[in-house]
Amino acid sequence: MTRTPIGIFDSGIGGLTILKEIRKRLPEYDYIYFGDNARTPYGTRSFDVVYEYTLEAVKKLFEFGCELIILACNTASAKALRTIQQNDLPRLAPHKRVLGVIRPSTETVLSLTRNNHVGVLGTNGTISSHSYLIELEKISNGKLFVSQEACHMWVPIVENNETGTMGANYFIEKNITNLLETDPEIDTIILGCTHYPILIPSIRKYLPENVLLVDQGPIVAEKLADYLNRHSEIEKKCTKEGSVAYYSTEQAENFEAKATLFMKEKVKATTIQF
Ligand code: DGL
Repeated sequence: MTRTPIGIFDSGIGGLTILKEIRKRLPEYDYIYFGDNARTPYGTRSFDVVYEYTLEAVKKLFEFGCELIILACNTASAKALRTIQQNDLPRLAPHKRVLGVIRPSTETVLSLTRNNHVGVLGTNGTISSHSYLIELEKISNGKLFVSQEACHMWVPIVENNETGTMGANYFIEKNITNLLETDPEIDTIILGCTHYPILIPSIRKYLPENVLLVDQGPIVAEKLADYLNRHSEIEKKCTKEGSVAYYSTEQAENFEAKATLFMKEKVKATTIQF
């Protein structure tokens, strides 16, 4: 039988933090993970380039039979999602769906903050797009105080397996200090990049205990379950054999080594070339 997996896309291995939680919550579905590791990081790239790369990945996932794709990448969600949804989908595949990770995360942050002082950590691209600021402003009717910090080095740290090193901790401390200096009252911080949950043990070292750190994985998993419940026309097309296939634009062995470490199970991957 032909599979119709749910596609999970990221610029690299960060989207695995989303895939892991989605599989925990919805283990019955088939999944394809696609990491564009050869071209990561996206965070420093222009709108046009992030859009072009993301659209290429979306088309590839459509070729693989996906009816539903999650952009498990905040930078792609900030810079490419809207154009893909409004301009490309109606032309390419009007019955297929592409969803992002920013909207679901902002709704949760609003419900978690106790004093309305919120921090956003993200890539340069996500932060400069102001997607979180705009979305949080909209859903809270302007009642939140939102401060942002772009963490240029965090994605390269994760992609290069430098997590936990002295060098990594230097940059993490610097960005956390900057954010808390901007607003010392922050009580909730959203990790607005899917790579960042891998750095949580280091991030926590520099944060007061009372500050909540919001990881998008469980949020996106719950919102996906809800989406599938509400959209039976999509849900019934998704096959359910509990499989997961991995694709990357970098050498398969490199991706496999990193993904195996993070997923805590043997990962076999296939290389894709554009
Ligand atoms: N995981 C991507 C995100 O959530 C990282 C983007 C990048 O490659 O810089 O934004």
